[in-house]
Order: sequence, then structure tokens, then C-alpha cells
Amino acid sequence: MNASINYIELSKSVQRDANNRLKHLITLEGLSRDEIIELLDLAQLYVRRPGELPARDRSLSGHTVANLFFEPSTRTRVSFELAAMRLGADVVNLDMQTSSRVKGETVLDTIYTLQAMHADILVMRDSEPGLPAHVAQHVAPHINILNAGEAHVSHPTQGLLDTLTIRQHKPDIKNISILIVGDLMHSRVARSTWSALTTLGIGEVRIAGPEHLLPPANEFYGAIRYTDVNKAIKDVDVVMTLRIQKERMASAHIPDDNAYCREFGLTSARVKLARPDAIVMHPAPMNRGVEITDEVADGKQSVIQQQVTNGVAIRMAVLTQLSRKN
Ligand code: CP
Repeated sequence: MNASINYIELSKSVQRDANNRLKHLITLEGLSRDEIIELLDLAQLYVRRPGELPARDRSLSGHTVANLFFEPSTRTRVSFELAAMRLGADVVNLDMQTSSRVKGETVLDTIYTLQAMHADILVMRDSEPGLPAHVAQHVAPHINILNAGEAHVSHPTQGLLDTLTIRQHKPDIKNISILIVGDLMHSRVARSTWSALTTLGIGEVRIAGPEHLLPPANEFYGAIRYTDVNKAIKDVDVVMTLRIQKERMASAHIPDDNAYCREFGLTSARVKLARPDAIVMHPAPMNRGVEITDEVADGKQSVIQQQVTNGVAIRMAVLTQLSRKN
């Protein structure tokens, strides 16, 4: 990581083509309200109820989507794979543990190898900030790069699927409040979801967590900061809690699980302080008993499984939209 580089500004500049159209999706920063709404509306067309057959079309016929996950994933990787297959693409999932990356091949050489095999949509997750933008600057002009999670910086399709889920329950986004609670410091999800919601003009954003896990003061502009979750959650319409990302923390920052749950976890008693019709969200994977109790995760107000379902629809929409621009 190079502290002198502003990764968001770099991503905003490289993700558009000469006609200012989205060619890659690396960050939600800089997307207009209309661009976000267009993606949400398209995704909504791909949503099916539980038990129905999934939506399918051939809009990616002839394309090859390669999934390159240099960090673990269940939801994002599988939903990109299903989305691409349901749109008629060929799909390759590179297993990083058995790939030539283990023998020291660089990321760019891995990318060039897939490009040479006519993979034309590359989905990437990595722990290194700036890597998707770096790759986007080096691939052939017909290639699309989709950021599937970049360090703590950005997770644009998660931001979109969270926003779609909120809109399905609370369509009047301008008049709702959301509390994002937990490890915001290390959360690419929180950054991308906040970005989409603020572009859509959400009424109020509150953030809460232990002081050392809240983001720097120059981030989440306009959000109201709390360290007392019982105050922060009062009368909100949406509560989103976040996973404690131990893999991104120095040991001094790792909280004790039980103490954390008592002070910052979503318990039934705490959720009762929100509005009675509030929805509860978590991007998952969850640390049950830490940031959320079983009772809340599996309770009536939880929309966590709906977030997962919406993830496939959002990824279908993003794949369709970007491939149209080729
Ligand atoms: N929410 C999310 O990105 O989940 P995965 O790490 O399982 O992809």
C-alpha cells in the first residue's frame, strides 16, 4: 500500500472510458444517482421469489467471465459465477491455491494469461488496495474489470445489493435513517454501501462502534458518530452490523468476543430500540454471538438471506450493463 496514492480517485478515473461510460466497476464513488438507479432497476428485474426458478437470459452469450479471488469468499464468488452462467457466459474460477501464483507468477501475468484465452470480464478480489485500478490500467481495451472486494477500500456490488435490499423495504430512501455498527474502520462494505446511499440522498446515516474501530474523521462525511449503540440505534429504520475483521487488525485492536457482544452486538433487546418495522442487515459471513446474536440473525426483522439473493441479481445487472458498453 502506498500512502501517497488516493485509491478512490484513481479508481474513479480509470473506470470510465473516453465517452465517460462505465467500463469497469471498481468503486461506487463518482457514480451518478441515475447510474445507480439504473443498476438497481435492472437488478430488480432479475429478482425471483424463493422457490421460483432463477431469471435467465443470453445477454452474456459469447463472453467469458473469469473469477480471480485472491482472498476467501463464498457469497460474492458463487453469486458472480451463478450470475454469469444465468446470462449465458462461459465461466472460469481460478483456484488461487493451485494456480501458478503459488509459484511466484505476478497478478498481471495471471491476468495476461486469462486475457490470452479470451476471458473478457475479470472479477477480482484482493487484499491490496489499488490492485483493481492497477489491473484496469494494464488490460486490453475490450476487457472489463469488476471489483469483488478490495482490501478495506471498496466492495461496489455489495454496496449495490445492500441498497437494493433497503429500497425493497424502504422505498422512500430520502426519509429513512440507517445505523451502521461495528468494525467500520476495516469495512469495504460499509464504505461502498454508505457511498451508494448518500448518492441516493438517504435521510440520515449514523455510525457506531468502539472508538478505535470507527473510521477516520475525514470519511463517512455527514454521518453522525456514536460509541454508545443504545443511543445510536434509537428509532432507526435500518440497522446494519458488520463483521469484526480480525484478519485486518493488529492484535491490540482485537476485542474480546463476549465483551464486544455485550457493548456493541445486535441483541433482541437492542433491536427493540429501533423502529418496530426496522430491518436488520449483515453482509456476512457473520460472527454469531459477537456482532449479532442467533435470535436477531434468524429473527423476523432479519433480511440477511434476502441480501444474498439480491447479490445474484445485482451481479447479473452489473455484468449485463458493462457488457453492453463493449
Ligand atoms: N459479503 C461478502 O462479501 O461475503 P463473501 O466474503 O462470502 O463473498
